[in-house]
Amino acid sequence: MDPVWKFVLLLAVCGSVTGDSAIPVGHLQPLGGHRPPDVPIDELHTIPHPREFWDKYVKHEKAVILRGAAKNSPSFTLWTDEYLKDNYGKLEVRLEGKREKHSWLPIGVKGIGRDTIEHFLDTYHDSDAYIVSQLPTDMYHEVLVQPCLTCGSFRNSLVEIDLWMSSNGGSSILHKDAFNAINCLYNGTKHWKMIERKYEPLLHKAWEPSREIGGYSEVNVHQVDLLQHPNMAKVRWSNFTIHAGDCLYLPKSYWHQVESVGDVNLAVALLFARLEEFDDSDCDTQKVEYTPLSDFQVMWDWPGFGNMTMGHMDLEMGAREQLYEMAEDSEEGLTQDFIFQLLKLEMPEFDDEFLLGKAERGFAALDVNSKGSLDSDDIKALDWDTLGAFILEYENQEPSNTELFEYSYTTAEEIMDMILKLAKKNGQLTRSDFIHAYMTQLGGTEKFGTEIFDRLVEGQDEDMIKIQDLTVEKLEYALENWLIRIKPEMTPEMDEEYQERMKEFDRKIGVPNVAGDAQKHTEL
Ligand SMILES: *[C@@H]1O[C@H](CO)[C@@H](O)[C@H](O)[C@H]1NC(C)=O
Ligand SMILES: *[C@@H]1O[C@H](CO)[C@@H](O)[C@H](O)[C@H]1NC(C)=O
Ligand SMILES: *[C@@H]1O[C@H](CO)[C@@H](O)[C@H](O)[C@H]1NC(C)=O
Repeated sequence: MDPVWKFVLLLAVCGSVTGDSAIPVGHLQPLGGHRPPDVPIDELHTIPHPREFWDKYVKHEKAVILRGAAKNSPSFTLWTDEYLKDNYGKLEVRLEGKREKHSWLPIGVKGIGRDTIEHFLDTYHDSDAYIVSQLPTDMYHEVLVQPCLTCGSFRNSLVEIDLWMSSNGGSSILHKDAFNAINCLYNGTKHWKMIERKYEPLLHKAWEPSREIGGYSEVNVHQVDLLQHPNMAKVRWSNFTIHAGDCLYLPKSYWHQVESVGDVNLAVALLFARLEEFDDSDCDTQKVEYTPLSDFQVMWDWPGFGNMTMGHMDLEMGAREQLYEMAEDSEEGLTQDFIFQLLKLEMPEFDDEFLLGKAERGFAALDVNSKGSLDSDDIKALDWDTLGAFILEYENQEPSNTELFEYSYTTAEEIMDMILKLAKKNGQLTRSDFIHAYMTQLGGTEKFGTEIFDRLVEGQDEDMIKIQDLTVEKLEYALENWLIRIKPEMTPEMDEEYQERMKEFDRKIGVPNVAGDAQKHTEL
């Protein structure tokens, strides 16, 4: 190594270590203790025009605080507990838990991780449950979209609208999200720590298949172990506070850790596409002003009951543009077999039968005129409903989006182990023993526990089962709904092969790769 470089490196290492010992500055302190925050974030009191918003911020993945930008929204003044209960109480939301006491998800009146707004508001001051959910469409008219998103490519780029609500504070891990977001706070206070995407190689990111765009860091944000995670000491960061009535533009893939404080925290995030260019041709005719969200088309919206559609891909850049390129570049156009080959490439962990079923249903959704093969004009003409129906078949449904989530929440193996242990202890298994254990040891609900036990004792006279009658067949029958949902997992080895084959595919077809942004780092 060149001696000058050795010297610079030495300085860099010493710079983050205290004088008299090898314990790095900020070791075991909260995130950011290693150095003062010195990456400034712009703060604006007037909303930039969409063109300026693109040129100065979105294009460069530069965050910006929009002070007061949520205050015009009816939601800012109207959305008290009482109002939400009276007007939207029966609508459903997705719940997560603060995970302080145990790792289970909270149970609402609609099952694991699912509640009505009414029941949530009656209980959230005394529970560790918080809402992370798609915002029901009935509530869109009380949320105003900031003028900076109301023309040009932004206008049709809303992917998903999320609602976030908690009581008594809480904190997130250090992570990044796939989409751009305008995150507006309607009640409470949030402390943000943010780290630009270029520092990602230093953040000790947990392994995930490279096709995922989100990601999280392994560091404990309350107590960063700089001996275990030494690269963190080289990261520059930003620190600021968002108050009720403020919004934040959080660029795609920007790392962040958020601390919510105050009695109530209530926020809405408008997720928008990972745009690569900006077409402003409608900006001279389109009104650039605060506009109700209900005047926009959102790619994935949700009525407040049934299956949610959180976390799906962008229908334009993720779906249409990719399909278009493929239809254009393949001689016979886009066919079911093409979709099948693509699925085999992207989901190597699944067997052909499963992927063939997906390809059949997915292609049927796309092929609205039953042509058997689609050219690029056909793809251009597809509406969002059709593209959405295709993606719902193509991508795997996130179980927590569905009402049957509980079948994927606990494993069949865990439940079998518990049944056998209980039965061994007592020589038999009674309904009440089983259901009690299923709820208290595995965090399940009475409804699904009852299904298991009903199946175990099916065709018997007594409402209990003796240990000698607990055959493998009986257990498999009782847990059938769990067993059919077991999914194979992508391994790091499969992922490496996947990346190689994807590169080859991209070369052949010329499809810009929208997934896996980790490879595209700018230099530090
Ligand atoms: C914020 O929450 C507090 C406490 O629940 C409530 O009194 C207040 O009205 C809320 N403010 C807004 C703007 O919703
Ligand atoms: C970060 O900002 C918060 C308030 O916005 C402040 O209380 C805290 O001391 C800041 N942390 C650092 C390390 O500057
Ligand atoms: C909801 O999701 C479940 C599980 O994926 C599926 O079986 C069911 O058909 C879906 N319901 C609707 C209405 O799409």
